[in-house]
Amino acid sequence: AKLLVIHGPNLNLLGTREPQHYGAATLADINRALACRAEAAGVELETFQSNHEGALIERIHAARDEGVRYIVINPAAYTHTSVALRDAIAAVAIPFVEVHLSNVHAREPFRQHSYFSDLAIGVICGLGSEGYLLALEYLLNKLNND
Ligand code: DQA
Repeated sequence: AKLLVIHGPNLNLLGTREPQHYGAATLADINRALACRAEAAGVELETFQSNHEGALIERIHAARDEGVRYIVINPAAYTHTSVALRDAIAAVAIPFVEVHLSNVHAREPFRQHSYFSDLAIGVICGLGSEGYLLALEYLLNKLNND
């Protein structure tokens, strides 16, 4: 896969999980839209979700061996807690865009710090599931210009 989209914990529950924050789209809806857009662009894209920190870390390690060029990641709650996940993405040195469905800056104070944002190419938050597609669009352009 050239592009990898990583979804962190609890995002498998999208659609029914706090829709006032996270919207009505399911993870399958989001992944399908991303797959369609990538296919239209002729770019390989893989999606991965886990509720386990170690599984997310190991997926990131594998991405380097697979030659993944860019990552889109919503680390979910690990955004605010995981030095280990941050270190993994720093270690493989794969450039990435950080995405959040909700506007984390308009919520509880503990959501306002991210262990990822200072390493990211950029961050999209508050645009719901469209944020993933906008991140993908940006990376498709980037791939074209590489
Ligand atoms: C989230 C925001 C996080 O604070 C939260 O823990 C999530 C989802 C978002 O997409 O808005 O699980 O990353």
